[in-house]
Amino acid sequence: MNTTPIQNLSDTTLKLIHSRQHISPKRLGDPGPDPEQVEKILGAAGAAPDHGLLIPWRLVIIPQERRHLLAETFAEALVERDAGATEEQKQEAREKAYRGPLLVLVIARFDSTQDSVHPNERLISAGCAVQNMLLAAHAMGFGAGLSSGRGLNARAMRQLFGLNEQEQPLCFMTVGAVTKSKPPRTRPGRGDYTSTL
Ligand SMILES: Cc1cc2nc3c(=O)[nH]c(=O)nc-3n(C[C@H](O)[C@H](O)[C@H](O)COP(=O)(O)O)c2cc1C
Repeated sequence: MNTTPIQNLSDTTLKLIHSRQHISPKRLGDPGPDPEQVEKILGAAGAAPDHGLLIPWRLVIIPQERRHLLAETFAEALVERDAGATEEQKQEAREKAYRGPLLVLVIARFDSTQDSVHPNERLISAGCAVQNMLLAAHAMGFGAGLSSGRGLNARAMRQLFGLNEQEQPLCFMTVGAVTKSKPPRTRPGRGDYTSTL
């Protein structure tokens, strides 16, 4: 049977979607995306569905030369929730800031410019933006992973990224070359999450 271009595209797209997997920042190294590839990955976020065209999220790149600021913030965030944290634990927290060539913080924006667009819709838009970037990175042959952690909402973190009261940090996204692969997980089937009215 001949396959049409559209069939090829849908096969490729589905293959891309199903083969994406979370790669821990620990397993992401050099080479990372070059500046042109970074543009394409971050540009994919702009294609996310966006009710009211609010761009209800923003991205902050944390370049290598600024990672030390994030490292100190991770350590401060740890102390914020555990005043008795040891120097070793603080050092472990700091080291996480240096993982992965491309590191981006994803922030949701809930400002009240258009109250008709519910916060849930804004979060969904942010999630779609993240997935677009993960798939774009995966399509280029990079691994990518998301990380949140308890430090995300720490006072020190909010301060470092200049978050206002209507902004919520959602997760970090790390992109790079996969240094150590892992087996794919078993994904749920559509019967696990679909019913018919
Ligand atoms: C918002 C968000 C935050 C996440 N934070 C973490 C995290 O802190 N640590 C982690 O190991 N995985 C994190 N993940 C990745 C999930 O663990 C991962 O997507 C899940 O195990 C399913 O695996 P898959 O993405 O390969 O299908 C996060 C995922 C999302 C959507």
